[in-house]
Amino acid sequence: MSNAQQKKYLVTGGAGYVGSVVAAHLLEAGHRVTVLDDLSTGHREGVPEGAEFIEGRIQDAAKWLDASYDGVLHFAASSQVGESVVNPEKYWVNNVGGTTDLLAAMRDAGVRTLVFSSTAATYGEPDEVPITEDAATAPTNPYGATKLAVDHMISGECAAHGLAAVSLRYFNVAGAYGAYGERHDPESHLIPLVLQVAQGRREAISVFGDDYPTPDGTCVRDYIHVADLADAHLLALGAAARPSPTATLDGGAARRGVDPGEHLICNLGNGNGFSVREVIETVRQVTGHPIPEVVAGRRGGDPAVLVASAERAKERLGWRPSRADLKGIVADAWTFAQRTH
Ligand SMILES: NC(=O)c1ccc[n+]([C@@H]2O[C@H](COP(=O)([O-])OP(=O)(O)OC[C@H]3O[C@@H](n4cnc5c(N)ncnc54)[C@H](O)[C@@H]3O)[C@@H](O)[C@H]2O)c1
Repeated sequence: MSNAQQKKYLVTGGAGYVGSVVAAHLLEAGHRVTVLDDLSTGHREGVPEGAEFIEGRIQDAAKWLDASYDGVLHFAASSQVGESVVNPEKYWVNNVGGTTDLLAAMRDAGVRTLVFSSTAATYGEPDEVPITEDAATAPTNPYGATKLAVDHMISGECAAHGLAAVSLRYFNVAGAYGAYGERHDPESHLIPLVLQVAQGRREAISVFGDDYPTPDGTCVRDYIHVADLADAHLLALGAAARPSPTATLDGGAARRGVDPGEHLICNLGNGNGFSVREVIETVRQVTGHPIPEVVAGRRGGDPAVLVASAERAKERLGWRPSRADLKGIVADAWTFAQRTH
């Protein structure tokens, strides 16, 4: 890569699960990366080799951000739904307050490109699936509410101050990328929890409700491979750095590029739903472990089916998931789990 093509990015939350995988992809693409992370839920060893590491908070981003950066990828957040219900103030302070400070630091430094980790939790209970970006936003927990508030803040920042921003609303991120994978503590995501049963670290997996109106009665979710998600981030950065419209590769007329002042919001999912029981069965096949299940009651605020329409990401970013097979996603997560425990 020539010096002109090489860019320098600040990755907030780059010691966490998704941020570490995206940072690794940016480095592999030849870019320079600085990770800013307070290690509140991330791991120092998650910061990819070759990235500069600053142990610090987004609230203090102004200390480090300057005009040498071409853009910011903003992953840093508190993101446990259950914790947000019992301690909502932490979520408003960290997610909304922290992003206010980060946006101010970007404005002062003249850094005008942002990719933000938004979430399917901004939608709440959907009226229709697959969920498009035009669906009503009615989050059912403070985590989703704070992420939606940040999306609104970013829209205002774009309109008032010429930021070019892409919010990527992830559905269920899963899988691993080599040395980088999922290690939340406490863990709340289904695939790593089932893998903990396979490793003997947990006796059984709880199935929260088997009487939903779905084919096997368990909730259906859309699992996206973290490396496919990383591809979308690199495409989003490219779009925000290339405001002029360009033709699609297949000669279509779709608009690519995100103009200064524009806030593009795209869902990211495979568009395929898998039930909790299908995930458990896939883990049985991949690990050879019987995986005992315990059926527990439904959890409040758990919609029966959450599946993304990712048509906009395909059209505007040229993104295509290439690792949509559930068995492959689980196999990558299993390789990572065995390497870390
Ligand atoms: N994992 C998913 O399935 C999923 C789904 C939708 C959206 N998201 C969003 O993606 C982002 C990354 O999620 P993840 O699963 O990698 O979480 P994670 O907890 O592994 O990573 C978040 C990182 O941010 C850091 N951090 C938190 N607050 C900070 C602060 N104030 N200053 C500096 N660093 C701070 C943490 O130490 C951690 O390394 C989050 O914004 C999350 O809301 C994740």
